Amino acid sequence: MALASFGRIVLLGLAGGVSFVAPSHGAGDVERGARASRSCMACHSFAPGRHLTGPSLAGMWGRRAGTATGFGRYSDALKRSEIVWNEKTLDGWLRNPAALIPDNTMLFDGIPDPGTRADLLAYLQAVSEGPLRRRARAA
Ligand code: HEC
Repeated sequence: MALASFGRIVLLGLAGGVSFVAPSHGAGDVERGARASRSCMACHSFAPGRHLTGPSLAGMWGRRAGTATGFGRYSDALKRSEIVWNEKTLDGWLRNPAALIPDNTMLFDGIPDPGTRADLLAYLQAVSEGPLRRRARAA
């Protein structure tokens, strides 16, 4: 399935010296994902430790939900979910947060379009764990 390999595609794009525009393979396009992430920026920062209404998303890829250091307003629902953020769980979260974790406190309706979610996931993974993080902080 295409989704399973898109992380590798992003990494290859980064290793090849392309710091922002990863190749588009129909799975996730980092640049389009960056544009889609604007809907998140009212409540989230990608800078480590910079919490807004929502927790900083730095380093959240591969981490357990509800564990960003220094964010004290997590709902019990999110903290108890025992979800680890990866492409599968984040896809569900962004499609419909309330369906994945009932009683969470992220006021976001969700993104119905699978392509937009795939773009956003490619961007989130890159910015969460890769060299893009520094760029996001400067932005
Ligand atoms: C209206 C504000 C708001 C918007 C818009 C928003 N979020 Fe959130 N987000 C939150 C809050 C608040 C939480 C904590 C929810 C809880 O504890 O139940 C959260 C939690 C999260 C988490 C879990 C973080 C962790 O540490 O476990 C992720 C991932 C996330 N949001 C991603 C996104 C993405 C991606 C977008 C854009 C598509 C987005 N959010 C849009 C407010 C928002």
